[in-house]
Amino acid sequence: TDVISVGLLGLGTVGCGVARIIEDHQEELEHQTGCAIRIKKALVQHLDKERDVKLDPDLLTNHAEEVIFDPEIDVIVEVMGGIEQTREYVLDALRQKKHVVTANKDLIALHGAELLQAAQENGCDLYYEASVAGGIPILRSLVEGLASDRILKIMGIVNGTTNYILTKMSKEGAAYEEALREAQKLGYAEADPTADVEGLDAARKMAILSTLGFLTNVELDDVSVQGISQVTAEDIAYCAKLGYTMKLIGIAQRDEGRIEVSVQPTLLPHDHPLAAVSNEYNAVYVYGESVGQTMFYGPGAGQLPTATAVVSDLVTVVKHMRLGVSGRSMVAPLYPKHLKTKEE
Ligand code: NDP
Ligand code: HSE
Repeated sequence: TDVISVGLLGLGTVGCGVARIIEDHQEELEHQTGCAIRIKKALVQHLDKERDVKLDPDLLTNHAEEVIFDPEIDVIVEVMGGIEQTREYVLDALRQKKHVVTANKDLIALHGAELLQAAQENGCDLYYEASVAGGIPILRSLVEGLASDRILKIMGIVNGTTNYILTKMSKEGAAYEEALREAQKLGYAEADPTADVEGLDAARKMAILSTLGFLTNVELDDVSVQGISQVTAEDIAYCAKLGYTMKLIGIAQRDEGRIEVSVQPTLLPHDHPLAAVSNEYNAVYVYGESVGQTMFYGPGAGQLPTATAVVSDLVTVVKHMRLGVSGRSMVAPLYPKHLKTKEE
C-alpha cells in the first residue's frame, strides 16, 4: 500500500481531532484512497504539553521548517490558527509542491485569493471546508451541489461560540462571562475569543460563503459587523417576553446587482427555524433562484466535527494525487468579480 505522509501545523483541539480520525478511521480512509495516511510530523508551541491524543511524542517539533520542508511530507494540514506567520508557512508549503488543507477562516478570508493563486501556480490542491460551519459541508454544497443555480441570499448562524453563549443565557439564565468560559473549555472559542464575541469570526465566514456563493470576491471590509459583547441577560429576557429569540445572524444578499453582507444580533420569532438552533450548532439557509430554499444544519464548532471536515478534505486531496489531477481547489476567488459590494 502507498503511504501518504501528512505534516500537521498545530496539534490543539482540531489537530488532535484530525490525529484521532486518521487513527480511528484508517480502514475507511484506505478504502477510499487506496493509501495508508500517516502523520509524519506535527508542529506545536509547547513540546511537553499534555495532549488529547495518542501520538508518538518524537513526531512533535517546534521548528516549522522541519514540517514544511520535509521532502517526504505530501500534504500539510494547517490547524494552528493565526494569520501572517501562517500565511508564510502555507505559501512556503505550496512552493514546496505540498498540498494544503486548512481550517483557518481568518487566513482564507484575508489571503484566500493569494493562496489559491499560489496553489494553482504550483499544481497543488488547497481545501478549506472546515473554515466555515465546522462539520457542515456547506462550502462544497455551494461550489458543487448548487453550482448550476443563481444564489440570491445566504443567511445563518455561523459562529458556535456566540450561539452557545446566547443559548445558555436564554435557556438557563447563565451569565455572559460564565457561558463564554464554558465555550472556551469545550474548545469552541478562538484562542482570542474577541473574534467570536465581536462578530469578526462570523464576518470572516460570511465573506468566504458569499465569495463562493456569489462567484465574486467579498473582502472582510465589505462586511458590516456587530457582535454580542454588549448584550445583557436583561435584553434577552425582555426579548423572550415579547416572543423573540436573539441570535447572531449573518446575511448576504443580492440587491440589484450588488451584494450586501452583514453580521448582527437579530431578534427572531420563537417559531423561526433559526431560533431552534442551539448551543454550538450552526445552520445556513441558501436561497437559490431555481432550487428555492435549502437549509444546512449541524455542529459548527468542536473537535471531531471540525476534524471530520479537515480529514474529508484530506481524502479529496489524496484522491486527486492518486488520479494525477492535483491543482484543484475551491476556487471562486480566482474568478473575475462580476457583482459589486455595496461600498463600491
Ligand atoms: P488550539 O489553540 O486548540 O490549537 C492550536 C495549535 O497550534 C496548538 O497545538 C498550538 O501549540 C499550535 N500553535 C499555535 N501557534 C503556533 C505557533 N506560532 N507555532 C507553533 N505551533 C503553534 O486551536 P484550535 O485547534 O481550536 O483551532 C485551530 C484552527 O482551527 C484555528 O484556525 C481555528 O480558527 C480553526 N477552527 C477551530 C474550530 C474549533 O471548534 N476549535 C472549528 C473550526 C475551525 P501548543 O499545543 O503547543 O500550544
Ligand atoms: N470559534 C469558532 C466558532 C470555531 O465558535 O464558531 C468554529 O469555526
